[in-house]
Amino acid sequence: MKSHSTKLKRAKITAIGSAVPPGLLTNADLERMVETSDQWIMERTGIRQRHIADKGVATSDLATQAALSALEKSKLKPSDIELIIVATITPDMILPATACLVQTNIGADKAWGFDLSAACSGFLYAMQVGAQFVATGAHKNALVIGMDVMSSIIDYEDRKTCVIFGDGGGAAIIEAADEGEDVGMIDFIHEVDGSGGPALCLPGGGSRNPTTHDTVDKKLHYVHQDGQAVFKFATRKMADVCSRVLERNGYTGNDVDCFIPHQANKRIIDYASERLGMPADRSIINIDQFGNTTAGTLPICLQTALEEKRLKKGDLVLFATVGAGFTSGAALLRWAY
Ligand SMILES: CC(C)(COP(=O)(O)OP(=O)(O)OC[C@H]1O[C@@H](n2cnc3c(N)ncnc32)[C@H](O)[C@@H]1OP(=O)(O)O)[C@@H](O)C(=O)NCCC(=O)NCCS
Repeated sequence: MKSHSTKLKRAKITAIGSAVPPGLLTNADLERMVETSDQWIMERTGIRQRHIADKGVATSDLATQAALSALEKSKLKPSDIELIIVATITPDMILPATACLVQTNIGADKAWGFDLSAACSGFLYAMQVGAQFVATGAHKNALVIGMDVMSSIIDYEDRKTCVIFGDGGGAAIIEAADEGEDVGMIDFIHEVDGSGGPALCLPGGGSRNPTTHDTVDKKLHYVHQDGQAVFKFATRKMADVCSRVLERNGYTGNDVDCFIPHQANKRIIDYASERLGMPADRSIINIDQFGNTTAGTLPICLQTALEEKRLKKGDLVLFATVGAGFTSGAALLRWAY
C-alpha cells in the first residue's frame, strides 16, 4: 500500500485574475425599465451600475478569461493545473459541468474538476476545497473560479431583484506555501441553514419543477427573493461568523488589514465592519461598480484590493459571505505576495 505523509502543508493564493463583461446597466437604465429611482437604489443598496454580459456570452467564456488572466500572473502553465473548481449558480448548462468547459478552453490537459453550488458563498467554499487538496499534498495546485452571469436568471420586470445583480467574477490559483513561510490560509468557519432556502431561490428547471410552458409562464426560471428576510439574516450572520473566526484565532477587528466581504448590500457590509470594531478603510467595497455578482464577488473584490494597492504580503485578510441556502462563511488568511 502506498504510504502518505500526514504532515499538512499551508495553502496560499499565488495569483488572481478577473473577468467582467464591458456592458453596463446603470441605475438610469433601470429607471426606464421598472418603477425605481437612482436615489432609492443608491440609498438602499449602494449600487450605481452593474456589468452585463452580451447575449450569447456564458459563464465558461468569462471563467476562461479569468483563468487565463490568473495563469498569466502566475508561474504556472495550463498543463501544470491539477484541479479546477468553478463556483457558480449559472453554469452554461446543467451538464456538463462548467469546470470541464474551462479545462478544455485553457488546455489544462492534466486537470480534473467540478462545479460547486453555494450561491454567494461559492467562491469562499471553493477556495477552501481547493486549499484542502493542496494542504494534504493530493495536488500541487488548484484553479478556483467564482463566476456568474446573473443576468441569465434575473427577471428585468421585478424591481426587487433586477437592481441588485450583475455579471462577472474571477479566478485564484492556490499552491502550497514554502516551509516556514507565514502566509496562506489560517482558518475558516462555513455554515448552512437550509431553513432559509425559500427566501432566495430559483424554483424552476430542476427536478422539483422541470421546465414546462407553465413554469415559464409563472416565471419560475428566475431568481425569487424575500429581500427583507435575506437582509435580516445576512446582517446578523456576517458579523457573527467573522467575530467567531477572529476570536478563536486571537484577533480583533482592528487586526484585520483587508476585509473582503460579499457585496450584496453596502448596508450589510457597513453593519458587519462596525460590529467588528474595524476601521472603515479596511473594507473593500466595489458594489457601486459591480452590484452583486454572486460567486464572482469575492475574487472581483480581491482584484479591486490589488489594483488599489490595499493588499500586501503578510496582510491579515478576512473574507465573509452570506448567500442563498442560506450559506455563510468567514475565512482568515495571510496574503502571500
Ligand atoms: C432587496 C433590498 C435592497 C430591499 O431593500 P429594503 O430596504 O429591504 O426594502 P423593502 O423590501 O422593505 O421594500 C421597501 C419598499 O421599497 C419598494 N421597493 C423594492 N424594490 C424597489 C426598487 N428597486 N425601487 C424602488 N422601490 C423598491 C418595496 O416595494 C417596498 O415598498 P412598499 O413599502 O410600498 O411595499 C434589501 O432587502 C436587501 O438588500 N436584501 C438583501 C439582498 C441580498 O443580500 N441578496 C443576495 C443575497 S447574497
